Amino acid sequence: SETDKGTYEYYMLKEIDEQPVAIRRMLDKYFGDTGEILIGDQILNDIKAADRIYIVAAGTSYHSGLIGARIFESWSGIPTEVHVSSEFAYEQPLLSENPFFIFLSQSGETADSREVLQNVNRAGFKSLTMTNVEKSTLWREATYALPLMAGPEIAVASTKAYIAQVTLQAILAYALSDRIDLDLEQELSKIAVDIQAIVDDKAVFEKVANELLVPAHSAFYIGRGADADVSLEAALKLKEISYVQAEGFPAGELKHGTLALIEDGTPVIALLTQPKTAGLVRGNIAETQARGANAYTITTKALAEPGDTGYVLPDVDPLLAPLLSVVPTQLLAYYTSLGRGLDVDHPRNLAKSVTVQ
Ligand code: G6P
Repeated sequence: SETDKGTYEYYMLKEIDEQPVAIRRMLDKYFGDTGEILIGDQILNDIKAADRIYIVAAGTSYHSGLIGARIFESWSGIPTEVHVSSEFAYEQPLLSENPFFIFLSQSGETADSREVLQNVNRAGFKSLTMTNVEKSTLWREATYALPLMAGPEIAVASTKAYIAQVTLQAILAYALSDRIDLDLEQELSKIAVDIQAIVDDKAVFEKVANELLVPAHSAFYIGRGADADVSLEAALKLKEISYVQAEGFPAGELKHGTLALIEDGTPVIALLTQPKTAGLVRGNIAETQARGANAYTITTKALAEPGDTGYVLPDVDPLLAPLLSVVPTQLLAYYTSLGRGLDVDHPRNLAKSVTVQ
């Protein structure tokens, strides 16, 4: 069954492997026979009528919202903000005149997000929950709800829910746009195939994790644009299951403080999928190497350079690149945890679903 570990030692690896299927299931659910998107007109009209989208979420779901916001702004032209629910609930920013709220939640039960939704409902604003658990609290209490279709996620460290959330936000943004120059259905099918190829390279990431991260006491993920957002998720994944102190941040910020932490052998993993800023990130990598960093790049074919120590992803639309680049970072976290002899699925001090504020 779907909740059976089968031959896997840990759920996390099983769930990483399920990501191509999760995307395909989403394509079946949300695209019709002639390529039309199957999301109700009422939802689309309510969002189109809004002057601003507010995405509210926690943890990994918040990180998927950062990517989603870029896609909403770029494809639908609607200004979009992303907020951590535990902050938004108690320090609500000044809202636009006609806001629309999107709640992202694997479990649909995160208490801080629910607190925000209750405020939103009291104020009479409309909302949409994207969740993996139908009939969950956030599903029931929002104006609209759309399922993530990722199947049960059991490992505490979330993987396939992130992929599903980014995918569903892209599908919604596409439905809201006046036909951007991209065949999203085809692009997502290709991405599912590409993710399969990455997860088939497990041995590569096991080796890199063992050499670069298992012995490390700290590590850095850097990138610009969408890569900066993925670096946050990559660092979160690494720290939560391997206990390596990890930070992810915009590559250009290094020089404003964090560069002081780079020592001989410090792992710096650069995400390089954004053509606009690739040259600048190259410069930032060189700055860390000059201080002794052990640099590793996760880049696309078009942006790879001879002499890179790293992993090369297939080329992909830059806004959708997170769907590919996050996967190596999930596998690096997994094998670092495993290499350190830890219980991958049950990291200390953490819960799968946080129902306290
Ligand atoms: C917990 C989980 C995380 C998750 C976060 C938000 O901290 O350990 O994996 O990202 O809650 O959960 P949600 O179910 O709302 O996505």
